[in-house]
Amino acid sequence: MAKKVVLAYSGGLDTSVAIRWLKEERGYDVIALTIDLGNEKDLRTVEQRAMQIGAVKAIVRDGKRLFIDYFAFPALMAGAVYEGQYLLATAIGRPLIAKMLVDVAREEGATAIAHGCTGKGNDQVRFDVSTQALAPDLEIIAPVREHRMSREEQIEWAAARGVPVPATKASPYSTDENLWGRSIEAGVLEDPWQTPPEEIYAWTRSVADAPEQPREIEISFEHGRPVRLDGHEMDGVTLVQTLNQWAGEHGVGRTDLVEDRLIGIKSREIYEAPAAWTLHAAHEALEQLTLSKPQLRTKNALRQEYADLIYNGLWFTAHHQDLAAYVASTQRHVTGTVRMRLHKGQAVPAGKKSPRSLYSYQLATYDRGDSYDQGNAVGFIRIWGLPVAQQARTQLLAEGEAPFQLGTSEGAPPEPPA
Ligand code: ARG
Repeated sequence: MAKKVVLAYSGGLDTSVAIRWLKEERGYDVIALTIDLGNEKDLRTVEQRAMQIGAVKAIVRDGKRLFIDYFAFPALMAGAVYEGQYLLATAIGRPLIAKMLVDVAREEGATAIAHGCTGKGNDQVRFDVSTQALAPDLEIIAPVREHRMSREEQIEWAAARGVPVPATKASPYSTDENLWGRSIEAGVLEDPWQTPPEEIYAWTRSVADAPEQPREIEISFEHGRPVRLDGHEMDGVTLVQTLNQWAGEHGVGRTDLVEDRLIGIKSREIYEAPAAWTLHAAHEALEQLTLSKPQLRTKNALRQEYADLIYNGLWFTAHHQDLAAYVASTQRHVTGTVRMRLHKGQAVPAGKKSPRSLYSYQLATYDRGDSYDQGNAVGFIRIWGLPVAQQARTQLLAEGEAPFQLGTSEGAPPEPPA
């Protein structure tokens, strides 16, 4: 009996060739696993193609709910943004795909998993490291990274063997998508000076084409998770799908980033993530209302770390578990509603409310009804300023020291000692 490999199968050229390659070059029985993370493909056709090419089994699984609940929303709650512009759609999708590959490998008694990544990107790292964390015993095979055939060479290789690869017209772009976002790279985009052509976008209108009239929508969160749109309860998948439509219509969520890949290359990437950007902005607005200053500070300090670990393929690590536990704890009271204004490429929080709000009208107001005792400020400031006055008296204003003077060299901060 031949050994078995579970291949992450998208139905595209690379992974279609990989089915036959794994069989011919490596002697594997190939189980093709196609996972739906909201990438809008005809999955029945993909399944049939896998069998036609020579897979021993083709499996299609819906990962959308797991993706939103265990990957996208936790990344949202952490405020994870890579290099200011990337909401990590692909980066959070890969560990889930790895998890599902490993699960199927166990069910089917396979000894290896395979994926269609090249050796130049981040995705290979995410698949390989995630698999190593979940199942260190499984072999990992990346046919494209090994055979290094170009697109043309793969088409010829397939034709010579009568492999029915998909007859897609060669797009100059490389795209990837799931519910959390869509990425576009290659083609003219490889020149960072080139304006991204309008044809690359699929989820968002251009600012010019977006409606003149703004639209206001309400997003409600419970414990940091989005649960309602305009008051209607919905599951996370439906909520994100709906919001992708609403915000995409107004041109929200396009970014253009020359990004730093883990493997050392800078690459130009265009992203569309209308729902994800709208949710991040709304979530942040609600946190302003419901988290204390040190909570906000500490969370903010961890955002970068969190985004990096996701980007760099370290989802299944103890470090991630620790950070996630902290983030989850901060979300206990992040419950409430944010009114977002969608207009001409922007999603801006216009209003926010929460039953757990730390904002107090009675304390903040300058109108009648002010409950803040201004007299208390005097004593507080005396104590706050006590060490300042003490140091000024004994050091800064002492005989022979230059007092604070503006516009003179004496007023400038002293040079540090050599
Ligand atoms: N640059 C992004 C990342 O590293 C998107 C990668 C998209 N993947 C792809 N195979 N086209 O996460």
